Amino acid sequence: MNRHFRVWRGDSSGGDLEDFDVEVNDGEVVLDIIHRLQATQAPDLACRWNCKAGKCGSCSMEINGMPRLGCMTRMSTFTEQETITVTPLRTFPVIRDLVTDVSFNYEKARETPAFAPPAGVAPGQYRMQQVDVERSQEFRKCIECYLCQNTCHVVRDHEENKESFSGPRFFIRAAELDMHPLDDRTDRKQHAQQSQGLGFCNITKCCTEVCPEHIKITDNAIIPMKERVVDRRYDPLVRLGRKIFRRDQLEQPENMAPSTSEGVSGVGAGMTYTSARLPEGPPVGPDGRLEIAELAATTQGGPSPFGEDMEFPLPIERVSYHHPEPETPPRSPS
Ligand code: SF4
Ligand code: SF4
Ligand code: FES
Repeated sequence: MNRHFRVWRGDSSGGDLEDFDVEVNDGEVVLDIIHRLQATQAPDLACRWNCKAGKCGSCSMEINGMPRLGCMTRMSTFTEQETITVTPLRTFPVIRDLVTDVSFNYEKARETPAFAPPAGVAPGQYRMQQVDVERSQEFRKCIECYLCQNTCHVVRDHEENKESFSGPRFFIRAAELDMHPLDDRTDRKQHAQQSQGLGFCNITKCCTEVCPEHIKITDNAIIPMKERVVDRRYDPLVRLGRKIFRRDQLEQPENMAPSTSEGVSGVGAGMTYTSARLPEGPPVGPDGRLEIAELAATTQGGPSPFGEDMEFPLPIERVSYHHPEPETPPRSPS
């Protein structure tokens, strides 16, 4: 049966909604319909996607005003008479049609200090309690779809806040590292408050509502981080220190270089801590976008915090985990 779609077409100079009547079959999702439109009526319709399985985070769009993954939005959720309006993410600049420039998020990612390994423990020898693994595991489910970033009113309605606000995706990263028992940085809380703009968040929970991975962004990351900041700020000893020392002797926001080795008490044996990335992130062009070379780079943005000579995946002799010997020899195939 045919259904009515309105799809935003245009680029950074402007655009408008275009009407389409398109065939819809049982079991299809919105991304299927976009593909059918490309195949039958609008071959130049731009749309970003990769996995069609809700795992790559590429197909973020706004469907009837709601930030959603196109590949995870079933057509059966709409009534037969309903017009389905598909628009690009509103918080980020449009490149063309449904494709937006999300480099804001990569810049914020670069500003987040990397995991700081503990002293004297080599990769492969890290040990954590299961409860700690589970706590950060929730945050590791993030597929970087940026629906939460797109939804957060702090940047959605206030472009001027983008410079000083990292957004919910990076608050969960901050929380993950602050809750990590093997992370040696002691300044995650100050970084979240002073550099990431945690204080801008007024806990509306809109980010949590749209997260396709059902990460409890507000309850499990933002609120605990706010509590940790408050704990530190109103700790009686810290308050006493504030009274004794002059303001200029205390923490200064401008001293919060987010990605230096400050705050790291040690590094692994024989290794140098090398995650000293530039606080201002990678170079961007005059249009505020990443350089093409940066986008095409085959390596990660900053050097490995484990040292320059670290090889991944770890060679087996450097891994201290051993599989138990099988009790009986494996059967040979007959
Ligand atoms: S809870 Fe905070 S981070 Fe999430 S959408 Fe609301 S203001 Fe933004
Ligand atoms: S936290 Fe959820 S909504 Fe935000 S980028 Fe990750 S998966 Fe997407
Ligand atoms: S195409 Fe990968 S999440 Fe939708």
